[in-house]
Amino acid sequence: MAGPYLNYINGRWREPRSDRWFERENPATGEVIGRFPDSGADDVAEAVAAAAGAWETWRFTPAPRRAEVLFRAGELMTAGEDELARHVTVEMGKVLKEAAGDIQEAIDMTYYAAGEGRRMFGQTTPSELPSKFAMSVRQPHGVVAAITPWNFPMAIPCWKLMFALVTGNTAVFKPSPYSPLSAFNLLRIFEEAGLPPGVVNLVFGGDQTGAHLVEDPRVAMVSFTGSLEVGREIAAYCGRNGKRLHLELGGKNAIIVLDDADLDLAMEGAVWSAFGTSGQRCTAASRLIVQQPVAAGFTDRLVARATALRLGNGLDASTDMGPVVNQPQLEKIQRYMDIGRDEGATLACGGARATGNGLNSGYFFQPTVFTDVRPRMRVAQEEIFGPVTDIITCSDLEDAVAINNDVPYGLVTSIYTADTSKAFRALERITTGIVYINAGTIGAEVHLPFGGTRGTGNGHREAGQAALDSYSEWKSVYIDYSGRLQKAQIDR
Ligand code: UN1
Repeated sequence: MAGPYLNYINGRWREPRSDRWFERENPATGEVIGRFPDSGADDVAEAVAAAAGAWETWRFTPAPRRAEVLFRAGELMTAGEDELARHVTVEMGKVLKEAAGDIQEAIDMTYYAAGEGRRMFGQTTPSELPSKFAMSVRQPHGVVAAITPWNFPMAIPCWKLMFALVTGNTAVFKPSPYSPLSAFNLLRIFEEAGLPPGVVNLVFGGDQTGAHLVEDPRVAMVSFTGSLEVGREIAAYCGRNGKRLHLELGGKNAIIVLDDADLDLAMEGAVWSAFGTSGQRCTAASRLIVQQPVAAGFTDRLVARATALRLGNGLDASTDMGPVVNQPQLEKIQRYMDIGRDEGATLACGGARATGNGLNSGYFFQPTVFTDVRPRMRVAQEEIFGPVTDIITCSDLEDAVAINNDVPYGLVTSIYTADTSKAFRALERITTGIVYINAGTIGAEVHLPFGGTRGTGNGHREAGQAALDSYSEWKSVYIDYSGRLQKAQIDR
């Protein structure tokens, strides 16, 4: 799917009125992959107007008909899976197998949301009055702004857009400037699937473009996945202006390893969860809370495994770990190396940019393990979003759970233990939105709610049935066929 890469507004590919452009390069090689619009206020306003216009028709299109477009989009994604996955790797760096997982997650979510076209159940319930019928039905918000990150360039847009569409909203989609190619591919798919003009509009750009979109008064709901800082700004704006909002802002997730655990299994989970996608997942395990008696041995094995990971271009089948996404991210990770050392943590391995062997023109960072980490250190509290994890020792289950819960985020926790009662006690006490027993922190499935507590979000969820509550509102309906005035609470 070659360019030119243009905005997609009201069913047409459009040059930006701003006349500004940006380039995206492959983070593994530095090669430019394309030039994309850096959309301004006029572009955003046009896109929102198109979405607002299309809503008047789309919301009255029967939900099963809306879903048919989604089913076709799912089929097109399935047919194009290989190329779509390659584009993910080329634009954001993750290895091809993981990129294929990204596309698969997008397909799964598309079919799951499409299935809602013939469900989307409300409730019927008895009225307290005679000859009166009571029910609730879902209604869309209107124009949804979908602002998405680069780490899942196909899956996360589909989490948002598919649910927004099936529930009867229209959308303006502003992808991260670090993953514009997948966004372009997705709009080509919508176009081919026969989505009516204006139902989804695409504007490329950065923070400014996103701000114009959030602040447009015709945007009824914002769904944002990204950093805590930007999320808080959006939340403040939406709070002041009464806009609906869904947020997903990351994590500081832990794997708890108790001394009775299957340590081989725990090691596999730790390596995958800490270093998969170069640690650039909201669900990455950036803390490993290990019970004292097994901590030293676990650390030695983890360091050996981390050091053996092969870094390289994600298109190369022998690569275990690709680059990080860009220069600012590389610099941010580098700064945390100093922050950790200054606080007294020890670098057990990694700690620097990876160079040599064809890595020099990409943004590669060595898989890094900090030891001697105390739970309140910044490296144990703040999301670094790179291939960096901490070993924190704990005395027992209670201590582990207390450390786990004491961070500003609340997305995922996993615990490895062979003791069923400890597993259930942990399950009861852990306060994150997702918990795994004897599995790593990665692996959320599309039909369960996804999201987290504390700073991770604002109480809403994506995926599963819970997503319906984010992208629609309830309308309670009373039908009085008694032919007389009846008063609830008063007529008894
Ligand atoms: C994210 O990192 O933003 O469980 C999403 C997982 C994936 C989703 C991650 N299914 O890691």
